[in-house]
Amino acid sequence: MAPVPYDIYYQDENYFGDPYPGLRDFFDTYPHKGHVLDLGCGQGRDSLHSARTLHSARQGFTVTGIDISQVGLDQLSALARSEELDVMVLHADIHSWDMQGDYDIILLDSMLHFNRKDIPVETALVRKVADKLGSGGILVNFMIAGARREKYLKKILDEQCPWNVLYDDYTDYPDFNATYHRYIAQKV
Ligand SMILES: C[S@@+](CC[C@H](N)C(=O)[O-])C[C@H]1O[C@@H](n2cnc3c(N)ncnc32)[C@H](O)[C@@H]1O
Repeated sequence: MAPVPYDIYYQDENYFGDPYPGLRDFFDTYPHKGHVLDLGCGQGRDSLHSARTLHSARQGFTVTGIDISQVGLDQLSALARSEELDVMVLHADIHSWDMQGDYDIILLDSMLHFNRKDIPVETALVRKVADKLGSGGILVNFMIAGARREKYLKKILDEQCPWNVLYDDYTDYPDFNATYHRYIAQKV
């Protein structure tokens, strides 16, 4: 398989570190567990954390992680196996992937930036996710804080359908000394 840019970062370390406190807090406390889809899961820090919370809920829910880095997916699979967690991985391009399956929670972490050149493809991705979620489904998005991109995300989501916003705040990202915007919304 041809190498992709993140392979080299993932090769030797847990590149993105631990899940943000804001993500852990959501998965640890959100009462309605479900099938989780992690788009651009990388090495799986978030997939693994959500799978641990679902596993402890013992309700047979699953996590699916999708990425183009086979290196990251292999590491994620190995860790999931070692902890006996139900995580499925899929090597696919999230932009062209025809989203199959029913998901209760769709996670995008560090996948949206809305830089000028990325706007068309990222807008299409957000619309695809919003469309795929059923009523009551949850979009979980984390992205680097920035007023312009936060406003743009809300605009394209609100254009698509009504949302009940559960979290619109910020979380620390101690591993990168950064602040991330947390936007978690439930499709009405
Ligand atoms: C900034 S990292 C974020 C990884 C993970 N979400 C996290 O926060 O730990 C971006 C990830 O998206 C993956 N990626 C980039 N473009 C992709 C695409 N078109 N389809 C699937 N994965 C993609 C990269 O391989 C990388 O693992």
